[in-house]
Amino acid sequence: MRDQYDREINYMRLSVTDRCNLRCRYCMPEEGVCKKTHEEMLTEDEMIAAVEAGASLGITKLRITGGEPLVKRNIITLCARAAKVDGIREVAITTNGVLLPRLAKGLRAVGVSRVNLSLDTLKPDKYARITRIGTLSSALAGLDAALNAGFDKVKINAVLIGGFNDDEIETLAALTLRYPVDVRFIELMPMLDHPEFGPEAFIPCAAVLEKLPQAVPVPQDGGVARLYRLPGAQGNIGLISPVSAHFCAACNRIRLTADGKLKPCLHAAEEVSLKGLNAAQMRETMQRVIYQKPFRHAELSATLHSQAGRNMNQIGG
Ligand code: GTP
Ligand code: 5AD
Ligand code: SF4
Repeated sequence: MRDQYDREINYMRLSVTDRCNLRCRYCMPEEGVCKKTHEEMLTEDEMIAAVEAGASLGITKLRITGGEPLVKRNIITLCARAAKVDGIREVAITTNGVLLPRLAKGLRAVGVSRVNLSLDTLKPDKYARITRIGTLSSALAGLDAALNAGFDKVKINAVLIGGFNDDEIETLAALTLRYPVDVRFIELMPMLDHPEFGPEAFIPCAAVLEKLPQAVPVPQDGGVARLYRLPGAQGNIGLISPVSAHFCAACNRIRLTADGKLKPCLHAAEEVSLKGLNAAQMRETMQRVIYQKPFRHAELSATLHSQAGRNMNQIGG
């Protein structure tokens, strides 16, 4: 359906858990999540009911996010059920990749067609530092598993952090030469708890192009990234610039959090609960929330934090 600003909303991001097996510094606090009770979270049936309500309103694309979606025990059945919902043409997943060696083939088999995988650095010590508890080798094993599972598309997400990985732009981009993957650089978004990122950490995607003068623009794929390509590459370079150049005018998304809050905008405070609603109520609520989706989010910068009121792991990006 269209919102009040005539944007076609056809893409739902469903966060299936706020838990994660990593602790990325830009995403969640070291101590993990403040545990919500089981009763506060959506059940599998409620998640599927929400997907059905969305599909009846014109949602065709579903992206499963987290926290880390693959730590959820019922992730395969959830994806299988979601892929069968009438009207849903595409189920994609965003993951840190660590559990893909175990799950990639199963996800592909039940109808997940695309995978986005987070990888901010190719240096083992830096990977351990940014994720607090992760090992680079497990993420690379996940990438390998994704590439071997036959997904239609694999994209790598690298959050661009000044003073941390801006010296790796060329090496990360070079992954598109070696593998059939897109590599997207994402501007660091200032969420709730970011005490350790000073102004120097927030660098614009323009810094990527300065390091890759040989990259040529290519047409967008309908996503949020501006796309470029290196000569001889198998995949694209993407620039996702929510801070330096927001893309709200073309936004086609709504989000549903694991605790059942429908968020019409990633960076707005507004959220409406679907928890405990029957199918008709869910549809009616969703229709209203989509229609009233804000025109754009407030300015973001090193000092102007997101108004989402949540960390990224509690929204799903
Ligand atoms: P595809 O276009 O389907 O490949 O996926 P995607 O890029 O939307 O999904 P992904 O989960 O890989 O997100 C990549 C980055 O884009 C994450 O950092 C998200 O937080 C960010 N992102 C996705 N959608 C939005 C949005 O509507 N607004 C903003 N500001 N950031 C977004
Ligand atoms: N800024 C930008 N991207 C972020 N992600 C998580 N937190 C942030 C943030 N503060 C990214 C992850 C993942 C995607 C879902 O969102 O790296 O790729
Ligand atoms: Fe986990 Fe992804 Fe957040 Fe890292 S960015 S802590 S992998 S949810």
